[in-house]
Amino acid sequence: MRDMLISADLLAWYDVHARELPWRVGPKEDRLPDPYRVWLSEIMLQQTTVAAVKAYFAKFTETWPTVQDLAAAEDADVMAAWAGLGYYARARNLLKCARVVAGELNGAFPDNREGLQKLPGIGPYTSAAIASIAFGQRETVVDGNVERVMARLYAEETPLPTSKPLLRDYAEAQTPKNRAGDYAQAVMDLGATVCTPKSPACGICPIRSHCNAQSQGIERELPKKLPK
Ligand code: ADE
Repeated sequence: MRDMLISADLLAWYDVHARELPWRVGPKEDRLPDPYRVWLSEIMLQQTTVAAVKAYFAKFTETWPTVQDLAAAEDADVMAAWAGLGYYARARNLLKCARVVAGELNGAFPDNREGLQKLPGIGPYTSAAIASIAFGQRETVVDGNVERVMARLYAEETPLPTSKPLLRDYAEAQTPKNRAGDYAQAVMDLGATVCTPKSPACGICPIRSHCNAQSQGIERELPKKLPK
């Protein structure tokens, strides 16, 4: 498989079809998004859908436009604004993290995975997402969408969760040096809008010509899953 061509095709597609989401910058804007907004959105998106997160994200960023503002908030106000998103440990860690960044790091999020992972509430997924999306580091973000896209691209028949390390290797091999954050979000958008679980829209897929599952006609069967 010609790896670099795949990310080039995905990025070209993303430039036209990226979902417009409030924590992203527009395709023509030549800058990286604000780390505070990326961090906040990724924490909110951990167990909640994009559609549900939008309104909460708007409320939080209007009320607390910077990490310093959030760090200075009353706990009760933040918990009240979080109400409905669930998983309240996330909100408590959110405040803890904001206070470390504002109080000990001069308001600047660390620009790399290792530094990010030392912060409350930031694990392997979130650190990779922030490092790539907000800081342009070549880090690979793997979520359920990415796993499905990789399982199909490589026609990987090993079932989940056994296949997780394999699918991560594939995703890492595909990650480009430049625009790793856009690439990560392109794969997530592809998984959410085209390479969907039940009826993937292969007819409009920008990487169809690279897809081994599609050429074998087995895309709907992948990824395989071990019975729970
Ligand atoms: N899910 C989690 N993070 C996301 C992002 N940055 N874009 C789209 N979907 C996501």
